[in-house]
Amino acid sequence: LRPSFRDRDIISINDLSREEITYILEIADTMEPLLRRGSEILRGKVLISLFYEASTRTRLSFESAMHRLGGSVIGFAESRTSSVEKGENLADTIRVVENYGDVIILRHPMEGAARLAAEFANIPVVNAGSGAEEHPTQALLDLYTIRRELGRIDGIKVGIIGDLRYGRTVNSLAYGLANFDVCLHLIAPEPLKMRREVLERIKDRITIKEPEKIQDILPDLDVLYVTRLQKERYVDPSEYERVKGTYKITEETLRSAKNSLIIMHPLPRRDEVTFDVDLSRHAKYFKQTQYGVLTRMAILSLIFDTIN
Ligand code: NCD
Repeated sequence: LRPSFRDRDIISINDLSREEITYILEIADTMEPLLRRGSEILRGKVLISLFYEASTRTRLSFESAMHRLGGSVIGFAESRTSSVEKGENLADTIRVVENYGDVIILRHPMEGAARLAAEFANIPVVNAGSGAEEHPTQALLDLYTIRRELGRIDGIKVGIIGDLRYGRTVNSLAYGLANFDVCLHLIAPEPLKMRREVLERIKDRITIKEPEKIQDILPDLDVLYVTRLQKERYVDPSEYERVKGTYKITEETLRSAKNSLIIMHPLPRRDEVTFDVDLSRHAKYFKQTQYGVLTRMAILSLIFDTIN
């Protein structure tokens, strides 16, 4: 029996089983010809994109995915131009906009916002980033990238370096990886270490190591996932100043890496991966953005149950 996603919300990657995740990745593979030729499978469907926080990739790749499948898109990328500016609360906004379309893609600075929206909405809600909490569709495209570039997820060693405290993509990725036989190395200076509540959820399902330095583990890694400092989430600017520039990946850093190591990054990047790395065989972060469209096409076609 194939997993069904019909009319389902995607709020946390923890709501998906290993079988369901694997199925989404398999469907993403089948989206490539549809992307090239164009498709009409979502003709007549309307995607509502509500972005209360800055975004380039997530919003545009969802919108691109919807257009590629023949559907259409409405929404706002700037809450100042919507009634949010007049003080409308999220629950009211959701109860109104659900009448205008068939699926809601929501990005919001508050943790729990996507879950709340899903409780009020009668149409599916997809979490496109909820504060520092989760970003499940990014994790799906990250898993897709790993599987596509390395041919497998089981049996690999993944290093994650960066802002593990405020980065939502790393939370969702860690939860997602916990479904597989993966060794996870978390590399972050003390103030940026992964939150205990996140570690608690995965520690019995996956091997977790916290090496001091990237060089201690780099030669063993199959994947190195880098994230930027989430500056906008720091309430204390002096705390941000203290951690700024504490990690950086350059071509030099990668001397001891395996040939087959892939470097991933959800983007946007600041200075944590230098431009010389872009030219190396390891860099996959721009590929990742391409895979994002395929993955989001898969998610949308599964929610609308147009795959058979
Ligand atoms: C990420 C996000 O919004 O959490 N961006 C993205 O969706 N690719 C990462 C980030 O902002 O650092």
